[in-house]
Amino acid sequence: MSNLLHFSWTTFVIIVFHLFICLCSNFLYTQAFDSLLRLPQSGSPRIRPRSKRVLFIGEFGAKGDGLSNDTEALRNAWEIACSYSARPRIEIPAGYTSLIYPISFAGPCKSKVTLRISGTIIAPEDPGTWDSLDQRKWLYFHGVNHLTVEGGGTINGRGQKWWEQSCKINTTNPCRNAPTAITFHRCKDLKIKNLLVVSSQKMHVAFTNCLRVDTSYLRVIAPALSPNTDGIHISTSRGVQIKDSIVRTGDDCISIVGNSSRIWIRNIVCGPGHGISIGSLGKSNSCSQVHDVMVDGALLSNTENGVRIKTWQGGSGFATEIRFQNILMDNVSHPIIIDQYYCDSPLPCANQTSAVSVTNISFIHIKGTSATEEAIRFACSDDSPCERFYLEDIQLVSYGWEHTKSFCWRAHGSSAGFVYPIPCFSCRESIVK
Ligand SMILES: *[C@@H]1O[C@H](CO)[C@@H](O)[C@H](O)[C@H]1NC(C)=O
Ligand SMILES: *[C@@H]1O[C@H](CO)[C@@H](O)[C@H](O)[C@H]1NC(C)=O
Ligand SMILES: *[C@@H]1O[C@H](CO)[C@@H](O)[C@H](O)[C@H]1NC(C)=O
Ligand SMILES: *[C@@H]1O[C@H](CO)[C@@H](O)[C@H](O)[C@H]1NC(C)=O
Ligand SMILES: *[C@@H]1O[C@H](CO)[C@@H](O)[C@H](O)[C@H]1NC(C)=O
Ligand SMILES: *[C@@H]1O[C@H](CO)[C@@H](O)[C@H](O)[C@H]1NC(C)=O
Repeated sequence: MSNLLHFSWTTFVIIVFHLFICLCSNFLYTQAFDSLLRLPQSGSPRIRPRSKRVLFIGEFGAKGDGLSNDTEALRNAWEIACSYSARPRIEIPAGYTSLIYPISFAGPCKSKVTLRISGTIIAPEDPGTWDSLDQRKWLYFHGVNHLTVEGGGTINGRGQKWWEQSCKINTTNPCRNAPTAITFHRCKDLKIKNLLVVSSQKMHVAFTNCLRVDTSYLRVIAPALSPNTDGIHISTSRGVQIKDSIVRTGDDCISIVGNSSRIWIRNIVCGPGHGISIGSLGKSNSCSQVHDVMVDGALLSNTENGVRIKTWQGGSGFATEIRFQNILMDNVSHPIIIDQYYCDSPLPCANQTSAVSVTNISFIHIKGTSATEEAIRFACSDDSPCERFYLEDIQLVSYGWEHTKSFCWRAHGSSAGFVYPIPCFSCRESIVK
């Protein structure tokens, strides 16, 4: 048995390793290929395709030396690109490091715009920069349709000073907002591919009120101890696909909140971080409706959670039709966890009767190791128990090869195939009483 487990574990690691190699060589390949493509362009602008205007930010006065304020240059490039009718492309070339202060990019634009970041965009280091500004925003896109962001370059939030001042790191400090590195608000038909986002002050990439987002080859990197630094945050959005991406951070690798639906997450490498989370939902008696979420293919290593749904007491709405499948866990503290008593506040949260209901949740083909004994935790609401949960082909052993167990409170469901730890769903009758 242990040999068998060990074998399938090794096979999995090999598969994931290959996935990894594919991802990495793909990045390299894309970059090499792109620079080849670009080569003839430098010095001979006449071979630029006529239908596609390329706006180099250097032409707008950007210095790209990492010290000069390139914000105005980028803003002017955006204004022109956005009003141009022939598919313009803004280019931050390789070798450029542009210091960009908080900036808004407003849409809608006249045609499809591409922002090609091959160099680096850095944030001002001093949190004081935001004193008289909206503290939640750094690079803020709103109302933009048909935008593509690509190029293999880097967006660096330089969040170190923000983290030091966070109330989660130094409890004598007041709690305050910090900027999300790149936010897309009210976006439609957004494509993000091949981008590195590092050390954000808070969340790295956020989609709020978006429709149809397609993200691939995104890499997010921040230290394990950076506070609130979610990798990819999806809020009140529909039709979001996140694939072939890597997130290493201090908070959730991916979080899904608000009224979100049709979310498809596949081939994700996550860790360190807090895992893939739906929620928190229902904070301050709010209503949230999350449905049709698929997480298919993920490697989570050394994360606090694996796949999680967390709701506050007192909320309303639902989380339903959610499926987690083909997931490999490596030393994850809580591989599968539903927490309807989530309370992220210094004081204990008051017990309340209403709850965001959690129903029709499937966990299929989830294997690997748990860093704690309790590999499966279903802590459901007294007043709104978990219904129609389904477990199939689960093998979560302890990292130390000890036994693992499941915890259930007001959880109802069924299982098929081999499931370890043994499921602990209660019979339907028990809630009738
Ligand atoms: C940088 O430029 C932007 C746009 O012109 C301006 O709003 C901002 O105040 C400038 N920041 C500094 C520190 O000069
Ligand atoms: C925490 O913040 C306070 C006030 O800003 C500061 O005086 C103190 O040195 C900080 N503590 C640590 C451990 O950084
Ligand atoms: C979700 O939708 C409901 C009903 O349309 C609305 O009442 C609620 O405020 C929305 N919640 C969020 C978090 O947007
Ligand atoms: C496994 O996870 C635990 C808990 O997070 C951590 O303390 C330990 O260092 C991890 N082990 C390895 C080998 O990474
Ligand atoms: C909530 O209920 C639980 C279980 O009945 C109890 O242990 C806990 O003390 C209660 N919490 C508060 C804040 O009333
Ligand atoms: C949950 O699943 C059941 C059985 O598959 C189905 O009948 C029901 O419509 C689903 N509920 C929701 C809210 O989708």
